[in-house]
Amino acid sequence: MRGNPWTPAFAGVTIPMKNTYASYLGLQRLLSAQILQTSSDDELLFIIIHQQHELWFKLAIHELDCAIKSLMKEEAQDADCIIAFKRLSRVSAIQHILISSWDVMATLTPDEFFLFRETVGRDGASGFQSVQYRMLEYKLGLKYRFLDFELPGGGRQTIDVFENAQSEEEKERLRIALAAPAIYDAVISYMARVLPAFGIEDPRSGDYSHLHRKIAAVFRAWSYVYRNRASAPELYQLGEKLIDLEDAFRKWRFAHLATVSRVIGANTGTGGSSGLRYLRAAANQLFEHPMYPELWDVRSEMFSRPQEFDLAAAGYDSEQGPSPQPSPRMRGEGGSREAGG
Ligand code: HEM
Repeated sequence: MRGNPWTPAFAGVTIPMKNTYASYLGLQRLLSAQILQTSSDDELLFIIIHQQHELWFKLAIHELDCAIKSLMKEEAQDADCIIAFKRLSRVSAIQHILISSWDVMATLTPDEFFLFRETVGRDGASGFQSVQYRMLEYKLGLKYRFLDFELPGGGRQTIDVFENAQSEEEKERLRIALAAPAIYDAVISYMARVLPAFGIEDPRSGDYSHLHRKIAAVFRAWSYVYRNRASAPELYQLGEKLIDLEDAFRKWRFAHLATVSRVIGANTGTGGSSGLRYLRAAANQLFEHPMYPELWDVRSEMFSRPQEFDLAAAGYDSEQGPSPQPSPRMRGEGGSREAGG
């Protein structure tokens, strides 16, 4: 029974005798997790903005998991689609909080950061090592395990993102997330069942550890949905929600880039990359290789004159099935993402 002080709420979790505001939220642990390493009065800001990101990343990953689960249900119906939509709306709202948090970060001036950057970044610590950020990328559809980047001197280095895991258990979670369907796999799977006339191959039978590659049948289905929104309103809404997610993800990367430029200029990163050049390449990458390419192509097609939009020229391989072209920047399990010049 919940509320009984001696009964576990869930396996391994015991409800404390008195459920106060502070105990329920674990505030003692949460608020003692800001350990300053310097005497700078600005370091607390730096720690809290990073921690805030990690907390929201955690929730966004959870919401994406729930949305994926709803859409992948064998008998998914309109109602499951609406639930997924609601979950994704929550992820969008989180993304907007994170984007606006750069306004707070940007109040850190270079002279203020200079006083503690050397100390906190002395062992190569950087957001680059955020495991939850990679996990979020996996859920959104950016699947890769190795990251190739340009070193400040011009050489290149490849890192295994799994090596940033802080424990074997965390590494296993990364491995599972890389192999599991991302949100677009789930949407396509749902679409394949709701619009069978388009002959979309259900990606559930596929290998999810790789980036999504353009599928002509998926493009045609989206094109239909956008031209006949009254006949597939749930999919239309879902399509726009995916665009919201990708649009916000792009904006986050650009906001990060702009803030980094403002605070440390064109200097190298504490994580060992070329810094601004690396981040610029990462931000532009989503325009060159979007996560949900068919949805962006529908826009190009819609505003093209008749006969102007050519599927082969847009990178679609054949009438059906995935085109074989890999993205030059990111490949899946065993592959890599290249960035930084
Ligand atoms: C003044 C503040 C910040 C500066 C100067 C900064 C700088 C950098 C730099 C130079 C990089 C490139 C990798 C490297 O060599 O280190 C990087 C990557 C990264 N940073 Fe920041 N950062 C700041 C704040 C943040 C915050 C608040 C977050 C939130 C979690 C964050 C998350 C990331 C992530 C996830 C990457 C990897 C991006 C990718 O691989 O596409 N950074 N940062």
